[in-house]
Amino acid sequence: MTFHGSQLNRRDLLKSSAALAGALCLPKWFVEESLVHAAPEEPKSPNDRPGVLLVGCGGMGSYDASVAAKFGNVIAVCDVDANRVSEKAEKLKAEAKYSDFRKAIAHKGVDIVVNGTPDHWHTLVNIHAMRAGKDVYSEKPLTLTIDEGKKLVAVARETKRILQTGSQQRSDGRFRLACELVRNGRLGKLQKITTYLPQGPAGGPFETRPVPAELDWNFWLGQTPQLDYIPERCHVTFRFWLEYSGGTLTDWGAHHNDIAQWGNGTERSGPATIEGKVFSSSIPGGYTTPAQYEVEYTYANGARQICKSIPTESFSGGPLGELKPDAERNGVRFEGTEGWIFVNREKIVASQPELIEKELPASAERLYVSDHHMGNFFDCVKSRKPAICEPEIGHRSVSVCHLGVIALRLGRKLTWDPAKEEFVNDAEANGYVSRPMRNPWGYDAV
Ligand SMILES: NC(=O)c1ccc[n+]([C@@H]2O[C@H](COP(=O)([O-])OP(=O)(O)OC[C@H]3O[C@@H](n4cnc5c(N)ncnc54)[C@H](O)[C@@H]3O)[C@@H](O)[C@H]2O)c1
Repeated sequence: MTFHGSQLNRRDLLKSSAALAGALCLPKWFVEESLVHAAPEEPKSPNDRPGVLLVGCGGMGSYDASVAAKFGNVIAVCDVDANRVSEKAEKLKAEAKYSDFRKAIAHKGVDIVVNGTPDHWHTLVNIHAMRAGKDVYSEKPLTLTIDEGKKLVAVARETKRILQTGSQQRSDGRFRLACELVRNGRLGKLQKITTYLPQGPAGGPFETRPVPAELDWNFWLGQTPQLDYIPERCHVTFRFWLEYSGGTLTDWGAHHNDIAQWGNGTERSGPATIEGKVFSSSIPGGYTTPAQYEVEYTYANGARQICKSIPTESFSGGPLGELKPDAERNGVRFEGTEGWIFVNREKIVASQPELIEKELPASAERLYVSDHHMGNFFDCVKSRKPAICEPEIGHRSVSVCHLGVIALRLGRKLTWDPAKEEFVNDAEANGYVSRPMRNPWGYDAV
């Protein structure tokens, strides 16, 4: 459950703040304090509702568009799979259907693009949309490569468009509270951060099949190599192939490593060294992203981060119950000289309850407040203020994940310069910062 201010009015919330604090596993002081922040407003007049285009009508894009429909009108949908586009046009009551995102973005009345395509399409769609003057809600992981992120940030600055990265844990009070406590020294000196991600599947070998009539496979492949159609390379499981994604390290890492950066104060920077080990082997002809792995990062401030895959009962890690100090659950654990805090989508817990229960002093450094990720985006579209997960933050967070994937591929310790965004004296590693794009696709070809 996410704290969503617009669902309850302030009086109701104050009355029930104790119950709410319990339900959300947040301390009462934090819940009450959060009530002073305005909840995102759903527009009253149809004229105040921007036109929304959904590009990529899969599970997540469709969910995002259904949430965006509270604040705007979904007028067009686009997908390279004709069945999916028809189904979602009907469900979302969109007036127009497209297979080419460039034509869809040019559709009259489109102000906002919701990008729910697979990872290898995020950047090119986002760049095209921003250059066409549209604001963008883009799914995470924001990019396929670090180079894409650098380009995207530059285009966002040039075009002055609003872009929200779909790393929605930033708009969940539990994660903000954990990061605020850590950044204000509640744990003493921060020593170690552990991000626990679900391990990936080790599937395969898979067989080539005829391309389904409804699918434009060449368009789906886009910038990536021309390969025969294998159903497992396409919808949903694309994330377990290195051509299109980085496995659970970029998929879940874009959430938990994002929180690690927020808590560590490195959200506009990055690690200094990266070293990783893969503990599983890929089946020939099967998924290529590492299924079981551990990556160790060090930061200039002395903190160490371990990002490791764990077997997991559910995506959110299952009920925490009595969390033992050494429990390994999907989530983020911060450890300092004075104790630890563990946070995930269900709970925030600490080695000593007072680490969470004690109010922060008035002088504390407070972080950007958003209690509704899509609502924050629409608020920013109006105010023109940066969204909570604006392009540089989305790029820097996924860069940590990309660096991990590169370290796993190379199997040796790497040194990274976060200011220059390049590996130090390492031509081989720098070769993975970008990838060749297949014609006709490129940053300037969209
Ligand atoms: N924020 C979250 O918690 C969260 C959760 C799930 C997925 N995601 C992200 O959402 C994205 C989509 O994931 P999914 O599971 O919905 O995948 P999916 O495969 O179900 O959907 C992707 C859709 O994009 C379409 N597509 C591909 N190329 C296109 C193009 N050039 N133009 C238009 N459409 C195109 C595909 O045909 C497909 O219908 C991924 O990047 C994933 O990481 C985020």
